[in-house]
Amino acid sequence: MGILQKNQKYDVEITDTNNLGYGVCRINGQVVFVNGGVKGDVCRIKIIKVLKSYAVAICDEIYTPSKHRVSPKCQYKQCGGCVFHNISLEYENELKRDYIKNSAIKAGLKDIKVENVLCADNEDCGYRNKAQYPLTVDKNGRICAGFYASHTHTVVPCDSCYIAPEVFSDIIRKLIEYFEKEKYTVYNEITQKGLLRHVYLRYGEQSGQIMLCLVVNGKGIPNEDKLVQYITSEFPNIATICLNFNTENTNVVLSPNIKTIFGSGYIEDILCGKRFCISPLSFYQVNRNGAEVLYNKAKELMGDVSGDVIDLYCGIGTVGICIASDAKRLIGVEIVPQAVEDARINAELNSLKNCSFYAGDASEISQITSKAECIIVDPPRKGLSNDVIDYIVSALPKKVIYISCDPDTLIRDMVIFSQNGYTTDTLYPVNMFPRTQHVESVVCLTRRLDVDMRR
Ligand SMILES: C[S@@+](CC[C@H](N)C(=O)[O-])C[C@H]1O[C@@H](n2cnc3c(N)ncnc32)[C@H](O)[C@@H]1O
Repeated sequence: MGILQKNQKYDVEITDTNNLGYGVCRINGQVVFVNGGVKGDVCRIKIIKVLKSYAVAICDEIYTPSKHRVSPKCQYKQCGGCVFHNISLEYENELKRDYIKNSAIKAGLKDIKVENVLCADNEDCGYRNKAQYPLTVDKNGRICAGFYASHTHTVVPCDSCYIAPEVFSDIIRKLIEYFEKEKYTVYNEITQKGLLRHVYLRYGEQSGQIMLCLVVNGKGIPNEDKLVQYITSEFPNIATICLNFNTENTNVVLSPNIKTIFGSGYIEDILCGKRFCISPLSFYQVNRNGAEVLYNKAKELMGDVSGDVIDLYCGIGTVGICIASDAKRLIGVEIVPQAVEDARINAELNSLKNCSFYAGDASEISQITSKAECIIVDPPRKGLSNDVIDYIVSALPKKVIYISCDPDTLIRDMVIFSQNGYTTDTLYPVNMFPRTQHVESVVCLTRRLDVDMRR
């Protein structure tokens, strides 16, 4: 590609920041993505990779910093999680909104209004209530916990992450002291030998309860009572401890095999005034305060309902229970059986008698019911399959509340819905994951009147 060559340095002005946190500039018309660059920086960059249609560079020296810059709260650069940690939260929100707006226009949804990003509070510290720390052994033979360096399986030692609660770091340090003392071994991905794979922690912000789950390559740990005694006396908020047995050669952190060695096997939290129990294999929104903002917006968009509401991809039942408890019937579908068990318990905890939760693939919903006043969907990043969209449009709900953690697949699916008579004029982004590249959104798709007339 052109004249750009690896290791060459250039003085440039960064003219944009993209959705992955890279600065963008052009050199002789060629696009360069600058790791560490921010729109408005005047800087020297060093090219590190040249590809067919673009090059990648790092910021070598900043001559004039962008007005959007802030000093990062985190000193670990390699984990790659917080791609926006060097810019203000206001600018991050602006970038996230603009990205969604531009993607919608590109997809042909040019009239859609994308609202300003909603936030729980202007806080980017300690919001993550869940963390999974891979364990490794450093060059001195000491056990350490950390995060995978971006796009690799190399563990970067890091026992404190500012977007997670501080107590997680304290627990990790004490656990490592214990593992060292008791001569626990650490799993090695190459030899597939060694016991400890991950420490997984979860925090119920309202209850104060903490869940500790050790992911091990084996059928147990030596002297589990001693570990329980040690760690619960150090951290009385640890309400439950589980072992997850993962003996596969896999990148997947958790296996389906779980044993509770202390407490009930779940922790509790409160969301929108409702109680929820959460077990280790179940999904729970990682930003509780952000989830309340999201669910309140979803409730406002849904309005009052008197008929049936279907909650597809329902997890432990949070969305339906928080926003549709007044429905005639609330029917949830979720693929993880443990989450469905939690959802049933959660309906009971909140004294709801109108709820049924089914374990299965969302595309099987047509075998359960064919009618609903409103269908809520909250799929994983890959969005909805054609089968699920076909079911929804043929079930003729008045409204579809679509909650999404990936604006690209949301917009793709909105185009299909609009071809089938379901449209919206406004999209609401919610910054559930400050400092990272991720953004949540919610829309209410309403059945068009002309569709009613045709049917
Ligand atoms: C983004 S989470 C949303 C969960 C829940 N609505 C909440 O806010 O807590 C997506 C959920 O979909 C579930 N899931 C993934 N694929 C599924 C499928 N094909 N059918 C049903 N549920 C699925 C996941 O296990 C997860 O609980």
